[in-house]
Amino acid sequence: MSPCPFARWEAVLRLTGRSRPAPPAESAAAFLDLLGREVRSLRPSPKRKTRVLQEIRSRGVFHLTQAELKYGCQMAWRNSVRCIGRHFWKKLDLLDLRKAKNEEEIYAGCLQHLRQAFHGGAIRSTVTVFPSAGRDGTGPRIWNYQLSRYAGYRLKTGRILGDPMEATFTDFCLHLGWKPPRRKSAFDLLPLVISFPGRSPRLFPPPLDETVQIPIRHPDGPYLDDLDLRWYAVPAVANMLLEIAGQRFSAAPFSGWYMETEIGARNLADADRYNLLPEVARRFHLDRTRPASLWKDRALVELNRAVLHSFQKAGVRLMDHHSAAQSHLAFEQAERKAGRKVFGRWDWLVPPLSGSTTPLWKRAYDPTEYSPNFLPQKPPFPFPAKS
Ligand code: ARG
Repeated sequence: MSPCPFARWEAVLRLTGRSRPAPPAESAAAFLDLLGREVRSLRPSPKRKTRVLQEIRSRGVFHLTQAELKYGCQMAWRNSVRCIGRHFWKKLDLLDLRKAKNEEEIYAGCLQHLRQAFHGGAIRSTVTVFPSAGRDGTGPRIWNYQLSRYAGYRLKTGRILGDPMEATFTDFCLHLGWKPPRRKSAFDLLPLVISFPGRSPRLFPPPLDETVQIPIRHPDGPYLDDLDLRWYAVPAVANMLLEIAGQRFSAAPFSGWYMETEIGARNLADADRYNLLPEVARRFHLDRTRPASLWKDRALVELNRAVLHSFQKAGVRLMDHHSAAQSHLAFEQAERKAGRKVFGRWDWLVPPLSGSTTPLWKRAYDPTEYSPNFLPQKPPFPFPAKS
């Protein structure tokens, strides 16, 4: 039942906060061994192993085959302690763009990612891998949190129009010369910002044609219609580091499909995001004069119903939190059967709505992060001061 020693070693490295990567040869050999143990067809021959070690000695890195990279990405998803959706880890598509030479090619790859992942609404989990970081640890970067995301404009009144979480990034895009739509709205897609090591970040147009957006409507009537709420279909996280076999892919956007609470109970509901609960409560004539009327809880449920209904009507894949929790339980069982222990972050896995009604509530998780994995990386911030 114990995870491979390599993983444990990596985790110790991380937990102690050391920033130096594991010796490349050791990481590579351990990854290939792990791979060989899990997938017979990917078991490296002694010749392959020797070559890899030679390559590392001469170049500092080695070239993962596409099959190795793909399985490595799938393991990285499986090891993602915050993800409730990882039952589907073996169904991750790889877009291998390690040959991208410049910012334009990375941008084109991001657009291709969004198109492929959307897949006519039958969303496919996808990761795109761009060139890895070099020996000095720096590589290409996508500065956006996600490939599709809404701007947050600071208004003169101090209010923010749009997504407050993106206000600083929006400032930065404007600083780089982004021209927002003439009529600003609360749902304007942000441009993409891409850089190669040692070069200034470059601005690319918002992925308008590649981002399918779903109008949010309530199933019981026109309660929310004139608010013109919407959300995009594919959440493509672009700012994390993909680490496989000691190699660091600093630009490797990945996406799955949404769980409705991410939109209905957080993005649209959090007081420091779109903060819509008071307005929704007003429209449903709930008693907002006292917390004990549970107006917040009731508004939250209505908002989540609206998100589920709207995505379903649009034919876009989305999961409710009860089914997602059930699928995580199935993941845990399958992993146990495969002889692996499941790691997780309880505070991330339990859904933000009716958590205690899901089977995850009573479970306990060890939050250690193993390799391969998707990890936070130092943001390319602080942004240059506003001019
Ligand atoms: N929670 C983030 C958002 O609301 C997305 C994170 C990834 N989510 C996913 N279902 N793959 O945009």
